[in-house]
Amino acid sequence: MDQLFYIKTFGCQMNVHDSDTISQILLNKGYKQTDSIKDAHIVLINTCTVRNKAEQKALTLIGRVASLKRKRPDMISGIIGCVAQEKGTNLLKHFPSVDLVLGPRNIYRIDDFLAKIKEGRGRTSSLDLTWEPASFPNFNGYLKGRVTSFVKIMEGCDNFCSYCIVPFVRGRETSLPAKEIINKSNYLISQGIQEITLIGQNVNSYNTKNGALPTFPGLLKKLNSIAGLQRLRFTTSHPKDLSDELIDSFGELKSLCLHIHLPVQSGSDNILRLMNRGYTRDKYISLIERIKKTRPDITITSDLIVGFPGETEKDFEDSLQLIERIEFDNLFSFKYSERPRTKALQLPGKLGEKEKQKRLSVLQERQREITLSKNRLLEGTIQEILVEGLSKKRDGQLTGRTLGNKVVNFFAVKNLKGHLVRVKIVKGFQNSLLGELVDKCN
Ligand code: 5AD
Ligand code: SF4
Repeated sequence: MDQLFYIKTFGCQMNVHDSDTISQILLNKGYKQTDSIKDAHIVLINTCTVRNKAEQKALTLIGRVASLKRKRPDMISGIIGCVAQEKGTNLLKHFPSVDLVLGPRNIYRIDDFLAKIKEGRGRTSSLDLTWEPASFPNFNGYLKGRVTSFVKIMEGCDNFCSYCIVPFVRGRETSLPAKEIINKSNYLISQGIQEITLIGQNVNSYNTKNGALPTFPGLLKKLNSIAGLQRLRFTTSHPKDLSDELIDSFGELKSLCLHIHLPVQSGSDNILRLMNRGYTRDKYISLIERIKKTRPDITITSDLIVGFPGETEKDFEDSLQLIERIEFDNLFSFKYSERPRTKALQLPGKLGEKEKQKRLSVLQERQREITLSKNRLLEGTIQEILVEGLSKKRDGQLTGRTLGNKVVNFFAVKNLKGHLVRVKIVKGFQNSLLGELVDKCN
């Protein structure tokens, strides 16, 4: 009988990528994937712990799996990713239903661990943070029908922003060899992938620590010259490591898309210092000005935290003023959430939940207006879209993204999936654009 596995993914692109890797490893070993948790013989939960809320979601699902397992005791359940790394063997202690606990760097041997459990050799955990990311598995058929893919170029983070748990759960920054990244990209293109997004916690410090070559702009150059790659993206970049050479790449590399996600986190110098971000408000603004000068049509998005310990009304005003000044195309904003082991835990001046919520609402309301007006500015323009398939949200419409990473939906009589097309933007909404097909580019 087929062994069915189900995998639920919480969190960022790194987790999405890790879940894809796990799925492919298991498919290569003869397991089959199912979308139905109830039918699965193996249930895997890939968890996120960046904020407390994300962790709670994972723990709720672990509870649900425990009750499923009471009815189906032969089911194997595994907790993977950042909560697994953080809570470690405590998960095995507190949840008798959990069979396997795997940290993010330990996913590459998942089939060995499952085999061990199936042989009755007990519940197990693997949490080694020193393991190097292994080579990618062969994606036999797994990517069928996909047009875009992530490629991980580094793992971990050495920045230790004072609020952030990531360095503790994903370990030290490790860059993957360029040769492997290029091989993987070539392979993905041979499988029909047309757009690659390079991912890592801090992609623009690629190879900085080990002194190896190429640097990040050098890597982009190499990838840009791969035949068949239509589009190249990357995320996430850190402002303190953003070089002029990288900014210039936006003007020079033909496949590099016109979007940069550059988390600012706060508009106040006081708070940026307490956050250990390594730049000032003015430095951030000058980076943005330099980027806009190179490519005035670039999309700029960011992350921002409100209610960091000690954030005064004035500090918050500074953040508000910064988003008004820069006019990000989109902003992901969060209430500060206390995370174990981080430096910010010790800081005085914690804010109450109500105050944090109030500040978040004010900020998000203002940003909504900015995002909408930016999207409306695109009305009447012609945009190049890579068609990713049918829209899940808008019936009968095809969907794709602009070079600036904005979602565009449009009607077409033919299925143009995988084609680059030109569309005229007829309406800008809050979260997407409505387009009209003009013609195909290829
Ligand atoms: N509280 C709130 N937001 C956080 N982030 C990271 N850690 C925390 C925290 N403790 C946010 C940052 C980061 C994004 C991925 O999550 O804005 O850029
Ligand atoms: Fe966390 Fe800062 Fe590293 Fe981003 S750069 S993962 S916010 S420690």
